[in-house]
Amino acid sequence: MHKRSGGDVVQSAFSIGSAEFKNRVLVASGTFGYGDECTDAVDIAQLGGVVTKSLSMKPRDGNPPPRIVETTGGMLNSIGLANIGVHRFIAEKMPFLRTVDVTLIVNIAASTVDEYCAVLDLLEGEEGIDGYEINISCPNVKEGGLNFGTNCQMTSEITRRLRARTKRPLFIKLTPNVTHIADFARAAADEGADAVSVMNTLIGMAINARTRRPILSTVTGGLSGPAVKPVALAKVYEASRAVKIPVIGIGGITNGVDAIEFLLAGATAVQVGTANFLDPAAGVRVAREMASFCEEQKVSDMSTLVAALDARTGVSVLDSWL
Ligand code: SIN
Repeated sequence: MHKRSGGDVVQSAFSIGSAEFKNRVLVASGTFGYGDECTDAVDIAQLGGVVTKSLSMKPRDGNPPPRIVETTGGMLNSIGLANIGVHRFIAEKMPFLRTVDVTLIVNIAASTVDEYCAVLDLLEGEEGIDGYEINISCPNVKEGGLNFGTNCQMTSEITRRLRARTKRPLFIKLTPNVTHIADFARAAADEGADAVSVMNTLIGMAINARTRRPILSTVTGGLSGPAVKPVALAKVYEASRAVKIPVIGIGGITNGVDAIEFLLAGATAVQVGTANFLDPAAGVRVAREMASFCEEQKVSDMSTLVAALDARTGVSVLDSWL
């Protein structure tokens, strides 16, 4: 809840399965470490939730540098799922995370379906985890990643195998690098996912014309930041009309009005990602700005904005795909 002037409140809390979120802004995986690094700069208890960097079974160094480059209105990354591995996460990060009053969603990445299951099984033993986000959409690795996320059958299988192992909420993070994201949202929903996160990064590349070389060591990477927001809105619009489970909107959100646009398009909540690199407190600010917008618009309950887009004046080509 956010206080409104005059003592009223804007209702912004929501829940997905057993996970309760104080407000509708989470910080996106890969943009906020493991939640313990930014505590000098931001009170993470004011966030709706923290999604950790993707965890694999073994630690990963990721791709060689250069692996990040700034582009017009965006950021191209090819990190390659660098992470400390699930064992170190449990030993070194969970003790702190358990002390913070914030909803914790642990993101899992893997090269095989068995690895997803094994990582989740280890995390199941840990108190203080509120849910999982399953990364089937990293564009920067040869094994797993997009091989899974661009294949509807794999999306179904991974969701089914993980659903059978946990009662905690399961979010499946989808890639925009497909023709019809609605099919992938349906595949996840039909196998019992509690939500889909829409979207991971768009495949992109940057070139140095003078050297005639790609800037990233892996040639291509994943584009995020304000440049991708219009794509993300359309993907959220499409996915949310295909499924009944919540859609978490991600893509280029930098302020509260951006986030409200995602709710109108059909998102139940949003994740702030690339903006955290400029300001680790961006998520908290976005949540505050959403509440101010609601106050200004005399909206007392944010849930009334979800999928409240007035599209009477237009018929999207997406409609023929649903
Ligand atoms: C990366 O680690 O390469 C980025 C993660 C992702 O796009 O899923």
